[in-house]
Amino acid sequence: MMSLWNQKMHKGFALHWDGLETSLTETVQTGAIGDGATKKSLPVADLQRVEDFIQELPPPKYPFAIDEQVAAKGSQIFANTCASCHAFGGERTGTVIPVEEVGTDRHRLDMWTQEGADTYNHFGDGYPWDFKNLRKTNGYVSVSLDGLWLRAPYLHNGSVPSLQDLFEKPENRPQVFYRGYDVYDPKKVGFITEGDEAKAIGFKYDTTVTANSNQGHIYGTDLSDEKKKALIEYLKTL
Ligand code: HEC
Repeated sequence: MMSLWNQKMHKGFALHWDGLETSLTETVQTGAIGDGATKKSLPVADLQRVEDFIQELPPPKYPFAIDEQVAAKGSQIFANTCASCHAFGGERTGTVIPVEEVGTDRHRLDMWTQEGADTYNHFGDGYPWDFKNLRKTNGYVSVSLDGLWLRAPYLHNGSVPSLQDLFEKPENRPQVFYRGYDVYDPKKVGFITEGDEAKAIGFKYDTTVTANSNQGHIYGTDLSDEKKKALIEYLKTL
């Protein structure tokens, strides 16, 4: 699931992980259809209120200590290596990055087809509401990173448990972990994904299962340990 907060800051962004929509109104309405609304019952006015709410909803602030000096160093690293794809106002922020370039698991992308987009775009024919912005893309959106600390596990398929793991080379990222346990790990920056309690409460995520791969997005993996630490400290502030 993608976070819904701050939508007004995401104006013009491609929506859904693969950018298959460009209209927020349509995203909210198609979401309602997916959740069981019918053509006749689609509650357009109520959904507009939901949309207004997520336009303004702020992300929760990081609740643990942040070392501001270290974060300031990290901010420079972010500006040099990440901002073009992830900062608000970045050249490629909110656009679809070809899957060959970002290198993450492609199954989410391949599950959606031009035919699916065409069907949806005709779904509302004859009704006062209409869908016309669904499309087929070739990659994943370079999402903004607001409220990032709370969004673990990371990437579109939730295949990387923490920020610390994301800046490791894919072969060194955890292969099997437990998702869904809600105790936070401020050291790795993500939720705790191992140990007896995580095992009992969470569910097992195996990165070798089809569509679960933790490959790709190797940006930042070559940085020194000190720089990675600074970058992560900065990412807590977003
Ligand atoms: C060329 C564009 C590009 C660059 C440069 C880039 N990223 Fe990304 N990033 C992406 C894309 C595309 C995704 C979504 C990939 C996916 O989920 O499959 C992503 C996903 C992420 C996510 C996961 C977000 C979430 O909610 O799960 C984080 C965190 C992230 N990037 C951080 C960074 C950092 C930090 C840097 C710099 C070291 C960086 N990225 C550099 C394109 C980029």
